[in-house]
Amino acid sequence: MSDINLFSPMKIRSVEIRNRVWVPPMCQYSVFNRDGVPTSWHMVHLGSMAVGGAGLIIVEATAVSFDGRITVHDTGIWNDEQRDAWADIVEFITEHGAVAGIQLAHAGRKASVRPDWNFAGAAGPMPESEGGWIPIAPSAIPFDDTSSTPREMTLEDIDRVVEDFKTAAQRSVDAGFKVLEIHGAHGYLLHEFLSPLSNTRTDEYGGSLENRARLLLRIVDVVREVAGKDIAVFVRFSATDWKDGGWTPEETSTVATWCYDRDVDLFDISTGGNVIGVTIPTGPNYQVPFSDQVKRDANVPTAAVGLITDAVQANDIIVAGQADAVLLGREHMRDPHFALRAAAELDIEIDYWPHQYLRSRPRKAVA
Ligand code: FNR
Repeated sequence: MSDINLFSPMKIRSVEIRNRVWVPPMCQYSVFNRDGVPTSWHMVHLGSMAVGGAGLIIVEATAVSFDGRITVHDTGIWNDEQRDAWADIVEFITEHGAVAGIQLAHAGRKASVRPDWNFAGAAGPMPESEGGWIPIAPSAIPFDDTSSTPREMTLEDIDRVVEDFKTAAQRSVDAGFKVLEIHGAHGYLLHEFLSPLSNTRTDEYGGSLENRARLLLRIVDVVREVAGKDIAVFVRFSATDWKDGGWTPEETSTVATWCYDRDVDLFDISTGGNVIGVTIPTGPNYQVPFSDQVKRDANVPTAAVGLITDAVQANDIIVAGQADAVLLGREHMRDPHFALRAAAELDIEIDYWPHQYLRSRPRKAVA
């Protein structure tokens, strides 16, 4: 037990975060007309959570290159127009007291699919005639039976991806983001390299744990180089593939230690997403034990995510020391003002209730 609670501020390098109620990256598939450029939807969606008191808002998986998008409606940060549109959103988030972070991503073999508006499952590959492309991956193994077979990356492709992460990180810094999260989870490119289920390479990027982690570590190095000493760098991991022979919590802790030694500040611990046909025991807090495990085994700061929906539940995770912060995704979409409401429910005094909304602030009953 500690004195830290859900509303204790946190300082990472020079980044001051007002509380530990954070928003995880959530793709909105809401870019239309201009490749990768965030829209007014993103401004309102993310801005409302800043107004609503969240400490850190990590914007959705944002592609470091054209071919790193999941769908043609994803955001990107591979050109200056995208950077400038993000800068406006970052400015609004920051003005309202939240910290803006960005998840830098390459979708690997899960790139170039049709947007799935109904969340009914994989919507299938996007044909080249409609703007799709052949995805790249560590090995030519499709995600599932309906997916296109990716092209196995050459060493030149790998070098290009490292460079893309570096320039994307630079544009993110220029846009004003204070947290750069490297997406190493959910079966996208970097997770594909980490897991033996998706990486069967026989060169220096496959086989041993050192080899499978090599691309992630190269990216950590270039992102940290660009971030300098003041900006925070996170890595999101899927701590398990939920399948024998796949990526494990122990490997997550080991690679987290290597990343920490290279100046990554915090690990955002999710699970799954790399293979289908597995049983995931979902329920409240179901991923919290993985955050707890990585935090203890690697002795590094972590954040927990997954079916955390309630103020007391969220506070208990922090007070018990199972994570340094919690990320609430879908709950923030149901209630972008979750943090304000949680502070009132926990009876914790905060000074960032927006003045425009003061008349809606819950009052304690006067005896
Ligand atoms: C997600 N998630 C996700 N994860 C990620 O690393 N990058 C992303 O861009 C997305 N996109 C995304 C979109 C939508 C609509 C949802 C609901 C989820 C996963 C998300 O960050 C989080 O880990 C899960 O939603 C679990 O947390 P909750 O929603 O149970 O709090």
